[in-house]
Amino acid sequence: MGGKIAIQTTRLAKSFGGNEVIKDCSMCIREGTIYGFLGANGAGKTTMFKLLTGLLTPDFGDVEILGENMLQYRDKMLSQIGSLIEAPTFYEHLSAYKNLEIHSEYMGVEGFGVDKALKMVGLSDTQEKASSKFSLGMRQRLGIARAIIHKPKILILDEPINGLDPMGIRAMRELFLSLAKEYGITILLSSHILSEIEHVADKIGVIVNGTIVCETDLAPIKAEHKNSLEDYFFTIMSGGNSYDKTYEIRT
Ligand SMILES: Nc1ncnc2c1ncn2[C@@H]1O[C@H](COP(=O)(O)OP(=O)(O)O)[C@@H](O)[C@H]1O
Ligand SMILES: [Mg+2]
Repeated sequence: MGGKIAIQTTRLAKSFGGNEVIKDCSMCIREGTIYGFLGANGAGKTTMFKLLTGLLTPDFGDVEILGENMLQYRDKMLSQIGSLIEAPTFYEHLSAYKNLEIHSEYMGVEGFGVDKALKMVGLSDTQEKASSKFSLGMRQRLGIARAIIHKPKILILDEPINGLDPMGIRAMRELFLSLAKEYGITILLSSHILSEIEHVADKIGVIVNGTIVCETDLAPIKAEHKNSLEDYFFTIMSGGNSYDKTYEIRT
């Protein structure tokens, strides 16, 4: 796929107390595409997303967002990014509308606006209900609404399907596809489950023990492994060992 590069990392590394959690991690995502970031629990997905959004500083390597160095231009780049990383926190006593209104004022850009963002995630009818009374799925939707409200160029969502029911999963899938197709937003989604991302991703990156071991356009792999796509990626996720049905993803 052609097009400009939205996100590029080069040989990123990050340790916590001598434990190297991200190693030699290079990732490349083109503008307007959807990238599925696949890895077992503990592989390093959330840490990578924190490095991409400037919540953590790498020990080594570079992060480039829309052609600019993230470390150097963090504040400028953050206005172009929407993100949902780990469980979102809100003003618990306030409604979804009020939470988004406050965030929107803080971001200082028109973007989609509160009503449209609520509609996009299916929370239009929550009215005055305090967000403390929201289900996990509703909180996740509100987190996504907050991430997209300023119409960012790049959307980074860490395990966004968490807590959603099957209908919610389908609705989010359609939302992600429309954000990419209609608005040209570049989307980076993580999951430890292939089926959550394979229906939307143009490209998949697989992280194993802190290193991206495989980065590939999905269409040719889908064509080649029609009936065994899950086995194909499972083998890569489990560190390239031949597929073992007793293997369990660490939780
Ligand atoms: N702040 C931290 N301090 C120490 N270890 C951490 C910290 N954050 C993450 N880790 C470790 O880094 C590894 C990768 O974690 P994480 O990025 O959360 O993985 P994932 O999101 O893929 O489940 C895990 O072994 C985790 O325990
Ligand atoms: Mg995580």
